[in-house]
Amino acid sequence: MWRIFALALALCAAAQPSENVQNNSSSLPVGKPFTSDFFFRQLFDEESSTYSYLLADLKTGEAVVIDPVLEQAKRDAQLVKELGFKLKYAINTHLHADHITGSGWLRELTGCQSMIAAASGAKADVYLEEGDRIEFGSHFIDVLATPGHTNGCMSYVIKAQGCVFTGDTVLIRGCGRTDFQEGSSESLYENVHSKIFTLPDYFRIYPAHDYKGQLESSVWEEKRYNPRLTKDLEEFIRIMDNLNLSYPNKIDVSLPANRECGVYDIPKE
Ligand SMILES: [Fe+2]
Repeated sequence: MWRIFALALALCAAAQPSENVQNNSSSLPVGKPFTSDFFFRQLFDEESSTYSYLLADLKTGEAVVIDPVLEQAKRDAQLVKELGFKLKYAINTHLHADHITGSGWLRELTGCQSMIAAASGAKADVYLEEGDRIEFGSHFIDVLATPGHTNGCMSYVIKAQGCVFTGDTVLIRGCGRTDFQEGSSESLYENVHSKIFTLPDYFRIYPAHDYKGQLESSVWEEKRYNPRLTKDLEEFIRIMDNLNLSYPNKIDVSLPANRECGVYDIPKE
């Protein structure tokens, strides 16, 4: 009898480490796999180092794309077609200054609707606000207003899949600059700490860009290793005030075009 008891005790002890990995905030948390009916594809634009994300419900075929790039709109539309999806929305995290959004052109190519924050001042079919829910098939995205990089920045959370699309609000070991487009270091910091860093540690973070080849991060990682956002607010503002960044490359072309949903004086071929 005591042997059975000892064996049960040993099995319980063996089970504990994996639970600890999940619950102990000092260890890398165990991630949550995507559900089998959720399609996820990360896409890249080399010139602007932008990530776009094609997401779909595999049962209904309804799809959305987050942060498409104008020069890649044909690629994205082709992919949607090949995979048998119906693109419902082209969603922007914010009014980009470094590239032109593909949402306007995708709208023409696929019949989807474009989306952006009402606060961005840009044209779109649907204007988003905090608390909105974007549905595609049985999946949905919760909209969080996370201004700071720009006044119209949104982050998009899919709780059931354990992921958040942060645009330029949180980048991998960085964050978007706050010296243009009505940016505010204080707002960025407070929104990240109250709305992104309060998500479960295992949540994956998918940013709008990466310049060093990293594809994704997690709430756990950025809470520990983001060299800016781990500082206190005062230090964060000091860092952001002293970045000495050059004038954004394509801002003079991108902003007017993006205010018109990316279909402004742009040759189609
Ligand atoms: Fe940006």
